[in-house]
Amino acid sequence: MFDNSHFPKAKKYWYMGKFYEWSQPSVHAMTHALHYGSSVFEGIRAYKTPQGAGIFRLPEHVDRFMNSASVLMMDVPYTKQQITEAIIAVMKENKLDAAYIRPLLYYSYGNLGLVPQFCPVELVISAWEWGAYLGEKSTTGVHVYILPWRRIHHSQYDMTAKLGGIYVQSTICGLMARSKGFDEAVFLNLEGNVAEGPGENIFIVKDGVLKTNHQSESILEGITRDSVLEIAHDLGIKTTIGAITKEEFTQADEAFFSGTAVQIAPIVRVTDDSDSSNQMKEFKVGDGKIGEITKKLSETYMDAVSGKTQKYQKWLTYVNEK
Ligand SMILES: Cc1ncc(COP(=O)(O)O)c(C=O)c1O
Repeated sequence: MFDNSHFPKAKKYWYMGKFYEWSQPSVHAMTHALHYGSSVFEGIRAYKTPQGAGIFRLPEHVDRFMNSASVLMMDVPYTKQQITEAIIAVMKENKLDAAYIRPLLYYSYGNLGLVPQFCPVELVISAWEWGAYLGEKSTTGVHVYILPWRRIHHSQYDMTAKLGGIYVQSTICGLMARSKGFDEAVFLNLEGNVAEGPGENIFIVKDGVLKTNHQSESILEGITRDSVLEIAHDLGIKTTIGAITKEEFTQADEAFFSGTAVQIAPIVRVTDDSDSSNQMKEFKVGDGKIGEITKKLSETYMDAVSGKTQKYQKWLTYVNEK
């Protein structure tokens, strides 16, 4: 029934307490979330480590998941502990030692008015092997497209939540960037500063100082972003948090995306299409190659997620904990 070529290693998914074969559907076409995006989700990665699969910052992801659910006023039928256990069970059931994990809560079948008062909230958890989000370019460097559209503004909804429907802007803009031949999109916010990618936070480096923005710039403050800031601090790299102007971004010595899916991906070229009165302009970031600080942070991050660094063991939940 389904073409599984993009889910090469998935066997079973978890739905409301039971496992189902990957190709067996469990959702009715009149499911509320399918029509209005009334769902919340998480993106979590598990990595192969010397102690078997380790799930990166699982408690933080489960906390954010439950926060998202509360923003969408969901009555969640599971506790944090039960969701955590179910995620671990999905890893075990599929015998995965590295995976992308996707828990999804959604208003299900009940009524199709905009207000889902008769729709139960259902939980589905899937995990499958998924390589770097932006492919091999996520290590060699990506060319980004600054969109003509502005990011949804933090005054319009609670940006701490990952709400399905809100991601339609990311989907359209990700498609738009790729249709023009770029690797990924970058949003400016309503203030005209750099906000984020469709599913990534942004860092820049100038004169040895690492800079990223915060929630008041209309971003989701990512868990990877938080990890990068801590790693940078530990490495003695000076960091600052504040608005990133478009000029700072295009004139940076280094720039990179951070996110669970993308991990750390250098940005080496920027095309700016944000000014409708001007033609697109192209910029090389630094010398157009992965920068030294980006490289160091990326290596340290990959060591941390792979369980190679004692200091960052605190971030891993082992699937086969004795
Ligand atoms: C819009 C957006 N910004 C940033 C991020 C990065 O967040 P994290 O590092 O928690 O994956 C994500 C991914 O979840 C995202 O969807």
